[in-house]
Amino acid sequence: MDVMIQGGSPLTGELHVPPDKSISHRAVILGALAQGRSIIRNFLRSEDTLATVRCLRGLGITVEDKGKVLEVHGNGLRGLREPSNVLDCGNSGTTMRLLAGMVASYSFLTILTGDDSLRNRPMGRVIKPLMLMGTSIEGRKNGVYAPLVIKGGQLRPISYRLPVASAQVKSAILLAALGIEGETEIRELAPSRDHTERMLKAMGARLQVKDKVIHLTGGHELLPQEYTIPGDISSAAFWLVAACLVPGSELILRDVGINPSRTGVIKVLRQMGASIQTINERLLGGEAVADLIVRSAPLKGVDIGGEIIPTLIDEIPILAVAMANAKGESVVRDAQELRVKETDRIKAICDNLRALGAEIEEMSDGFWVRGSAKFNGAEVNSFGDHRLAMAMGIAGLLTQDPIRLTRAEAVNISYPGFWYDLNRFTSVEINKI
Ligand code: S3P
Repeated sequence: MDVMIQGGSPLTGELHVPPDKSISHRAVILGALAQGRSIIRNFLRSEDTLATVRCLRGLGITVEDKGKVLEVHGNGLRGLREPSNVLDCGNSGTTMRLLAGMVASYSFLTILTGDDSLRNRPMGRVIKPLMLMGTSIEGRKNGVYAPLVIKGGQLRPISYRLPVASAQVKSAILLAALGIEGETEIRELAPSRDHTERMLKAMGARLQVKDKVIHLTGGHELLPQEYTIPGDISSAAFWLVAACLVPGSELILRDVGINPSRTGVIKVLRQMGASIQTINERLLGGEAVADLIVRSAPLKGVDIGGEIIPTLIDEIPILAVAMANAKGESVVRDAQELRVKETDRIKAICDNLRALGAEIEEMSDGFWVRGSAKFNGAEVNSFGDHRLAMAMGIAGLLTQDPIRLTRAEAVNISYPGFWYDLNRFTSVEINKI
């Protein structure tokens, strides 16, 4: 599917962004391991999270979609059964990595596969700690790529230092450790999103976090929960940047998750001069949420790297659009993880922004960009990556001549209503070829 976008009007009024993808995955996965019925309100129904639901059903879990709520009937920590077929994780790295941990202590056979992109993303980072715990896992290219063939067994606790700041790897180890008597210790390089830890604590798990070290004592059943999932700050980020850049905008984004491990994008936009106000701060299911008010403002360049990167890693494609339109130069460093996302995001950002007329240079772990670009019309590609597709959609609000985006359906991975929402502020011509 192609879309054509050409300039936009100021972004005003209110918008509800879709429910948080990371929290939706975890709510249904942990619900499946709890003893009894969990109720999830505002569950994200997108390709990635529905892949997780499909895989859990393959593992014998009943998940009922009742419209307003999703009901998950957990059978406890030992309640999964051997899937009768290969489990297809689609495009979702979170599904594959978290499920690898979830099944690691089961002696039955699980085969996890995914689409072309997912089968080329590094899996060694989860395979290594899970094998240290005692699971047997095989993957293509000597255990680097999926399909993964997992045959678990009696696991032992480990003390493990994460070589990358990855919430998916951390969560995979925690899921495997839940069933092990004894204490597993995980040391993080830099703090990454902590939704799994928060949810596990709420479910009664013996989990403690001190500085960047997590301790989990397994062997205790989890209590089912009722959750309401907050709005996804990673989806809100597109509108934050759009409203900053389109003069005359004033937009309210309701019920957005503002967990500190995810708010790097707000910090950096404020550093760039953005006007973003948080109001109605409250707690929803153990997670901080707020309404965000964003008004257009002139932005200036910024230099980012280090520990802030994991807190905004998914927002770098849209931050790049902001940087290309800010006054002065910007640099993104320490973001080599972008190379192994749904596509090589460093290359994809640079190729697309260059096509739009920006001056941008690729570095091994990020990019350099000179701001104040006047985007021209061009043909750009999502490369099948949802966040690239949406970043290009927002870039389309800023051009006189049309932007044509190919593989625009990628938005369905995390934000199926994106083109519909964008159409409020511009005319989006959709070409379903
Ligand atoms: C996610 C963690 C991050 C993030 C991804 C979602 C999660 O990946 O980029 O979109 O839900 O745990 P890594 O764990 O690879 O950093």
